[in-house]
Amino acid sequence: MRQAYRRILRYVPRYKVPLLFGACCVVASRLLMVYAPRLVGEALNALERGSPEGVDDAVRLGWTFLGVSLVAAVFTFGMRVFLVGTSRRAARDLQRDLFAHVERLPATFFDRTRTGDLLARLTSDVEAVRFSLGPGLMYVGSTIVLFPVAVASMMDLSLTLTLAALGPLLAIMVVVRVLGPQIMRRTRAVQESIGDLSARAQESFAGARVVRAYATEPVEEAAFGNENEGLVRETLALANFRAMLTGSLYVLGGGANLVVLWYGGSQVIAGTLDLGYLATYMLYVGMLIWPMISVGWVVSAFQRSAAAMERIDEIFDRPEESAITSEPAVELERIRGGISVSGLTFRHTGSARPALDDVSFEIEAGHTLALVGPVGAGKSTLLSLLTREYEPPPGTVALDGVDVTRIPLVVLRSAFAVVPQDAFLFSTTLHNNLAYALTGDLDPARAREVLQIAGLDEELVGFPKGLETVVGERGLQLSGGQKQRTTVARALLREAPVLLLDDCLSAVDTQTEARILDALREAMRRRTAIVVAHRLSTVRDADRIVVLDQGRLAEIGTHAELVEAGGWYAETYAEQRLEAELEGLA
Ligand SMILES: Nc1ncnc2c1ncn2[C@@H]1O[C@H](COP(=O)(O)OP(=O)(O)OP(=O)(O)O)[C@@H](O)[C@H]1O
Ligand SMILES: [Mg+2]
Repeated sequence: MRQAYRRILRYVPRYKVPLLFGACCVVASRLLMVYAPRLVGEALNALERGSPEGVDDAVRLGWTFLGVSLVAAVFTFGMRVFLVGTSRRAARDLQRDLFAHVERLPATFFDRTRTGDLLARLTSDVEAVRFSLGPGLMYVGSTIVLFPVAVASMMDLSLTLTLAALGPLLAIMVVVRVLGPQIMRRTRAVQESIGDLSARAQESFAGARVVRAYATEPVEEAAFGNENEGLVRETLALANFRAMLTGSLYVLGGGANLVVLWYGGSQVIAGTLDLGYLATYMLYVGMLIWPMISVGWVVSAFQRSAAAMERIDEIFDRPEESAITSEPAVELERIRGGISVSGLTFRHTGSARPALDDVSFEIEAGHTLALVGPVGAGKSTLLSLLTREYEPPPGTVALDGVDVTRIPLVVLRSAFAVVPQDAFLFSTTLHNNLAYALTGDLDPARAREVLQIAGLDEELVGFPKGLETVVGERGLQLSGGQKQRTTVARALLREAPVLLLDDCLSAVDTQTEARILDALREAMRRRTAIVVAHRLSTVRDADRIVVLDQGRLAEIGTHAELVEAGGWYAETYAEQRLEAELEGLA
């Protein structure tokens, strides 16, 4: 238990005051609750005497009963406010830490994790843990106080009757122990099914355009239906066991009442027990049924939450990316942007063949390097190793002569402005998407400037609210080319010494591309730039061109040199030129 919950126990110290208040409320309210049935018993005994004084006594006891119940209610209220409230705050802390941790996990984690499953851990698993530790522990705590005190009070009235009544109540524990492990197992299955279902739905929604394009709605529905069917099966199996548990608990509770009526009744007739105290007993049994049931129920809540905590811990146990710095970190005072790659071999996790195979080249600070080659040659992989999105082997990639694996991630990443191949924009205003690159505020003049470089200024005029236009899921749908150019503008805002452009103009026409490249040239002159492109006309002015083929460096040189060399570059360039000329004729 301690082991399973060690992570959440860390949140306890900061809430010790409300927890202490809550615990006091538990003790006070339960003690008063145990006292109240005695008053009822005495009131009934007073009535049984049949005298006017007896009636007066009964009324006086009745008022006391009301007062005690009121105070008990106030303490019960306090108990819920302090304990359940604290559980909500602690769950918030846990959720916040989990989110922050996930944000810092390496790219390899996201390659192999379904978003839906991650969301389930962040929401329903956290809630399961909260529920067991908040309301769950509260019920356990009140049982721990209530049970011994109530039993002592019962024994004080009749030892034998107490023992008889406890039999069925304790049988409740046995039932819980038998059914508990089954419930635990099935709960885990249900949680996994929920994860599968939401992952399925999430992917289907994210790929809605593909689904529509291929008219595969029925396929998606069937797949979702399957997952859903599985979930229902698991849930029903779990519900059956839960129902069995709850059912037996009620039957045993009823049994306890029967014992009191029957055995207690015979004691009343024999004159060894006052009739009023029989009522006290009935109230005690009623009072003890719920804690027994709640204990049984809390046991399964704890089993569910132990499984949930395990799933949460699986995420927390993944090392954050900044933790993977092999040697003492080096501070880069002024990054100039020289890059050298030497003997770089890299294989993606789970991939059979290396994406990069013994690649070496250098870029002087301020120069522009083009990275070209067939699809899947390893161009994007190479860029992601420079920024340590994926971790390169030590000693293979250096920035200004310093091994990147020794540079703290924040420092390293501040050296790069990246335009990734998939143009991702957040579902917010254009302004916010651009400002995302900055730590401070976005200067409108500067925004206009970069939008102009990225060739988006003319279209911006047509947007309903200019820079304040919301794009993406909640607003205006941008075209592929508009999205790409927005990401270029975003990267330009970041005054980083190295600019990485991964095929960022693939979705614009040749004329627009040429115009943007002209404008970009100025920005690139001040920085080191690596430009990935499929259209070779894009990169002919680069200081150097590297051709990758199946992860290997196939050719390297200037445009003229490579055309001269007559390899893949020369062939592809000639082909593309011919195509362009034919297009021009058409
Ligand atoms: N996250 C990943 N996990 C496993 N394999 C990967 C991953 N990313 C890329 N690969 C593999 O590595 C190889 C190189 O991929 P990469 O994306 O670097 O190619 P690329 O040159 O950028 O291609 P393109 O021109 O199509 O963008 C491919 O065989 C690809 O399947
Ligand atoms: Mg790529």
